[in-house]
Amino acid sequence: MASDLWWRGFDALLLDALSPRSRVLDVGCGDGGLVERLAAHGLDAVGVDPNAPAHPRLIRAQVEDASSIGRFDAVCSVMALHHSDLERVLATIALLLRPSGRLFVSEFSWEGYDERAAAWVAAHGGSTTVEDWQAEHGDLHTGAVVQAALGEAFDTLSLTERPYLARMVGEPTLECEEQRLMEEGALPAFAWWYCGVAKT
Ligand SMILES: C[S@@+](CC[C@H](N)C(=O)[O-])C[C@H]1O[C@@H](n2cnc3c(N)ncnc32)[C@H](O)[C@@H]1O
Repeated sequence: MASDLWWRGFDALLLDALSPRSRVLDVGCGDGGLVERLAAHGLDAVGVDPNAPAHPRLIRAQVEDASSIGRFDAVCSVMALHHSDLERVLATIALLLRPSGRLFVSEFSWEGYDERAAAWVAAHGGSTTVEDWQAEHGDLHTGAVVQAALGEAFDTLSLTERPYLARMVGEPTLECEEQRLMEEGALPAFAWWYCGVAKT
């Protein structure tokens, strides 16, 4: 069954921002759960991912090899850019967007995980030390690199800090607490939602 773990809440942002029947592409769609959700709300949603399951709305390919799939009113991407060939992927996305089409990204700056985060995770049943985290994520683009690449190709319309650790420990109901602690500076804010429009 499709998991909404990483895009729950982000779907509402997209549904608020886009008019019904908008054509939207989910880059790095994984199991296609977000595509399914957007389509259920009347959007013409399509996903692309080399690891996508067989489904009429999903294209099993890297986005940079799927440039003949037409143009989109919006592109979204959840936790995928940090894995990708950033320059090529963002250039492809810019080409796939109709004029004034928007790119919506949900990502994390994994380099922000620190001792405060590790202590909070440990207090909530997790056990990821800073050293383990860095070893696990070290081969991914940092959030700073992803944001810099976005800044090269897109003009930023919004950038919002988001909670992350609550989902990581499987307790999404703790997001409000995490958000409060982020605002107090007691936890790092390292996940983010971005919206931008391709530079002309
Ligand atoms: C961490 S998973 C996230 C999946 C899904 N977005 C979610 O939130 O559950 C990252 C996905 O990005 C995909 N991906 C990485 N580079 C890609 C590319 N160039 N084009 C399309 N998908 C890509 C991977 O195959 C993987 O399924």
